[in-house]
Amino acid sequence: MADTHIHADHLSRSRLLAHLEAAELFLPTQDRAQYPFRPVADGDRIAFGSTALVAMRTPGHTEESTTYLLDTTAALTGDTLFLNGVGRPDLDGGTRQELASRARLLHRSVSRLLQLPKEAEVFPGHVSEPTPFDGRMLGTTVGTIRDTLALARLDSAAFVQAVLARIPPDPPNHLRIVELNVHGEFPGDPSELEAGANRCAIA
Ligand SMILES: [Fe+2]
Repeated sequence: MADTHIHADHLSRSRLLAHLEAAELFLPTQDRAQYPFRPVADGDRIAFGSTALVAMRTPGHTEESTTYLLDTTAALTGDTLFLNGVGRPDLDGGTRQELASRARLLHRSVSRLLQLPKEAEVFPGHVSEPTPFDGRMLGTTVGTIRDTLALARLDSAAFVQAVLARIPPDPPNHLRIVELNVHGEFPGDPSELEAGANRCAIA
């Protein structure tokens, strides 16, 4: 069980799932999570079956945000790169300067991801539209993102400016959600805390 970062817009089920499946829980190296986990650093391999996921540290949305690569054929990008947007850099708080430096890191991370082969699949942590549950995976390709995401074509300074200008309203309850995720707690009925649209993406 591997998670990409400390989430701010929904309660992570990763600790619970790892427990139910008696599986190890891998989280990016950081000092926020207050429960046991196997730390994952840039370049670490998580072997499973006949293959492995390789961790690529992709900071920006959060400092610890990590993408998991399956060879160069697929990237599990968490909230760093969405189907039609990038992650917002502000939910961990901070001054305007700190947000700008996180946005710069995000630009570098997104640029690295978009250097993968154009056929490589991108599977983000979630999407902003309601999901159709039609049996199709929610993914796209690096080539499609390169062609359709205008933000991806900006240089670092223009990207930072655009991202900071387009930050959406905070997700409801995000401070409480982060606190629960940092402590690995999961209340019986999370529906009220998690209500509302996904506001993690900037397009
Ligand atoms: Fe997130």
